[in-house]
Amino acid sequence: MHHFHYEGDELTCESVPLRKIARDVATPCYIYSCATLRQHFTVFDNAFEGMPHLTCYSVKANGNLSILGLFAAMGGGADIVSGGELFKARRAGIPAERIVYSGVGKTQSEIDYALREDILMFNIESAQELEAINQRAGAMKTRARIALRVNPDVDPKTHPYISTGLTKNKFGIDIEQALKSYKRAKQLEHIDVVGIDCHIGSQLTEIPPFVEALERLKLLVGRLSEIGIGIQCLDIGGGLGISYNQEAPPHPREYAQAIVQGLKDLPCKLILEPGRVIVGNAGVLMTEVLYTKKTLNKEFIIVDAGMNDLVRPSYYGSYHDIQPVVRYLKESRIVDVVGPICESSDFIARDRNLQVVEPGELLAVMSAGAYGFSMSSNYNARARAAEVLVDGDRFYVVRKRESLEDLVRGESMPEFVKGAARP
Ligand code: LLP
Repeated sequence: MHHFHYEGDELTCESVPLRKIARDVATPCYIYSCATLRQHFTVFDNAFEGMPHLTCYSVKANGNLSILGLFAAMGGGADIVSGGELFKARRAGIPAERIVYSGVGKTQSEIDYALREDILMFNIESAQELEAINQRAGAMKTRARIALRVNPDVDPKTHPYISTGLTKNKFGIDIEQALKSYKRAKQLEHIDVVGIDCHIGSQLTEIPPFVEALERLKLLVGRLSEIGIGIQCLDIGGGLGISYNQEAPPHPREYAQAIVQGLKDLPCKLILEPGRVIVGNAGVLMTEVLYTKKTLNKEFIIVDAGMNDLVRPSYYGSYHDIQPVVRYLKESRIVDVVGPICESSDFIARDRNLQVVEPGELLAVMSAGAYGFSMSSNYNARARAAEVLVDGDRFYVVRKRESLEDLVRGESMPEFVKGAARP
């Protein structure tokens, strides 16, 4: 469900024709629908109604301040994986007591920052990290609330790059080791054990792997309770998939039902870390056709958005639907839609059946709200795209397009280089 649809032959976001945004903001640009963001957050959050819970939106999916701010206003928390995400979440108004912090490589300065902010919970991913957090909390004369991120060894049946809950993955602590680490944590002077956590992967389109992971976590919670370690918060991570093409992922209600049923007899507060399911279909990447060309065996549409703007197709072989911003009754052809980057892996779609387009026409790359802008880069010295938020019949540039000066910000040339460069 989203609010990008055709009015006549014009693709609009809520009540704003995309063409109007292209005129004012130029391309490439990301466009997000406020109504869709709000609706997705509400549907997800309400699915857990009646169960004590906190929806901690996963900032990595899309960390635009306005998006974080919208969720903050709706009572959402944040799942963060870096000091940078902590900074953005706090800047957007998300209270520290609604922030959980995962990640296998938290640095000392990041740990200190999160301790200073007094976040809800560190999701600890190794025995050494537990010691480090205890040591830093001691040095700062405070205490750290923690959960251990358990790796339940469940196959999420998704792309190998975004599977995280198998023991061959770098994430979390296996169950037997976790038991030992919990015992250790209980003895540590500056640690308060409050929770247990797992996250098994992203873009999951079936419920059973979630339920299986939950079962394994519950067994551990039982064993912990036998040794006097009470768990108040159970964080089951994110991972619910969306439909990019033919996928039919479960509705958040079905997902919630399965989780709540699985939890039945556990008096825990549930923490959820959804990312993609909230923002994925709430955003598109708009791009302009620069050229078309035929080679001996292919036809290419060359657009002004590249893999630096949206890396998912090149990196994961992901599918993103492509819609013309203005529909014409034209024949369609099988084409590759490619960007300007100097790599053959720079494509947005391959062998795609698309209406014939001419230079100057606009295309919308759909379902680009999650892991689109947040994974974009300056590769090939390309300024990162603008981001636009639509609310009803109005739109706002919520991140301006980077300038050429932005591309050199922070760089400097030592005198000896300058001298040689400009004799
Ligand atoms: N919590 C943790 C600890 C995570 O590692 C992730 C995602 C999430 C929550 C949110 O997962 P979601 O609900 O969005 O599936 N760049 C990839 C996705 C990487 C996901 C990494 N972790 C992509 O473009 O598909």
